[in-house]
Amino acid sequence: MSQPHLRTVVVLAAGEGKRMKSSLPKVLHPLLGRTLLGHVLAAAEPLGADRTVVVVGHGADQVRAHLTEVAPAATPVLQERQLGTGHAVRMALDAVPDATGTVVVINGDVPLLRPETVVALVEAHEEAAAAATVLAAEVPDPTGLGRIVRDVQGRLEHIVEERDATPQQRALREINAGIYAFDVARLREALGKLSTDNDQGEEYLTDVFALLRDAGEPVAVHVAADHVETLGCNDRVELAGLRRLLRDRVNEGWMRTGVSILDPHTTWIDVTVTVERDAVLDQNTQLQGATTVGAGALVGPDTTLVDTVVGEGASVVRSHAVGAEVGPQASVGPYAYLRPESRLARKAKVGTFVETKKASIGEGSKVPHLSYVGDATIGDHSNIGAATVFVNYDGVRKHHTTIGSHARTGADNMFVAPVRVGDGAYTAAGSVIVGDVPAGAMAVARGQQRNVEGWVLRKRAGTAAAEAARQAGEGASEPGGSASEGD
Ligand code: UD1
Ligand code: MG
Repeated sequence: MSQPHLRTVVVLAAGEGKRMKSSLPKVLHPLLGRTLLGHVLAAAEPLGADRTVVVVGHGADQVRAHLTEVAPAATPVLQERQLGTGHAVRMALDAVPDATGTVVVINGDVPLLRPETVVALVEAHEEAAAAATVLAAEVPDPTGLGRIVRDVQGRLEHIVEERDATPQQRALREINAGIYAFDVARLREALGKLSTDNDQGEEYLTDVFALLRDAGEPVAVHVAADHVETLGCNDRVELAGLRRLLRDRVNEGWMRTGVSILDPHTTWIDVTVTVERDAVLDQNTQLQGATTVGAGALVGPDTTLVDTVVGEGASVVRSHAVGAEVGPQASVGPYAYLRPESRLARKAKVGTFVETKKASIGEGSKVPHLSYVGDATIGDHSNIGAATVFVNYDGVRKHHTTIGSHARTGADNMFVAPVRVGDGAYTAAGSVIVGDVPAGAMAVARGQQRNVEGWVLRKRAGTAAAEAARQAGEGASEPGGSASEGD
């Protein structure tokens, strides 16, 4: 089969999407790792178009800014007033006067479209040397969509919008998916002849088909293998429906490559994520952005990972991580929060109710319980006692704490940064460490204990505590009493 000699892709993204009821333009709504527009651009990517033109209008600045991020090579073209899909394509082609060959037009709101389907449409169009080819699909519920009207021989006669259709036409279930291939020269000519004689008073791109056909030009219908790919999105209920469908497609793909997904209905994986073989994703897990999960790792249940790298054989349980790196065989959670630039080396551990940020935790080192580790470097094989706070903020600036390797810091420590604890050093429980601790030293930084004997009996007479103290005292003084037994 010949390579499609493609010149131009036009994506229509100027509409407001009124029914979304949103300050965000419809095409910028997110769907498992990309915006609706991002998905459409990704589907067109393998065509290798010379030019990609995106028609912007509603929220043009937002859409342009998004394009700069995801498709800097694309050309945004402003359609100031949304006068219809035909008008939009006319604006787009004005921006590429030198375009020749095939132009592919895609509505910006069909995010489940697969690259293979776009390629197949273009191939069918070029093989048939058609002037225009529309991607169609048989759908269970055609409500709101343009219908493909065929003649007695089954050839495309015209495309009619639901609001302009007769009851008979409305009964048709073959719809226009809003994805087309055209010969650019003949498209240009037909666009010049569009009328606005329809219920919305707009220039309909779809009317090009009847115009070309009436002029004796060959027009064709390419039927999509799977109608799900052609589903559009007009409100948030439909968006949620598309999200479920895409979730299932993505999960199925990973399961077929050897990933265990224990509850596919509650596992949401962005299309931008990668998961290696024998990883296990437990229920209620979200993997987002540039997240990668290594072979044999366990993630979940109840875990969200954003732009996070999980190494081979690591485990992340009931936790939330953003921009973190979890080394091979490291362990996180249950109930940990890893913030950006948290880096756990091989076999490191961040345990329960622990928050980390800009923290590098060395091989085999552990922060097991109830701690905050911010702006810190911890060497290898060190242990941080429970309830430790790395005091990194003086109210104006952040400061760094460095803990060496094989250190053992006591429970309930405060490391008041900037401060350094040397290799093999110990710190006593309850210490507030404000000065450096040399390697191998034991730092004690807390008040001395003082016991005021008999205080409760004197100052809290008549309380249960005083009574307990009295009985403990009698027991101690009684010969053969339980407290002294065996002494
Ligand atoms: C369109 C088709 C319909 C098809 C359906 C598939 C027309 C006339 N109708 O209807 O046959 O079944 O898509 O989803 O084309 N847009 C612009 N500028 C405009 C108008 C629209 O850029 O002036 C963009 C929108 O942002 C959107 C796309 O074109 O991405 C389609 O517009 P929309 O209003 O959703 O058309 P539908 O009524 O869904
Ligand atoms: Mg639409």
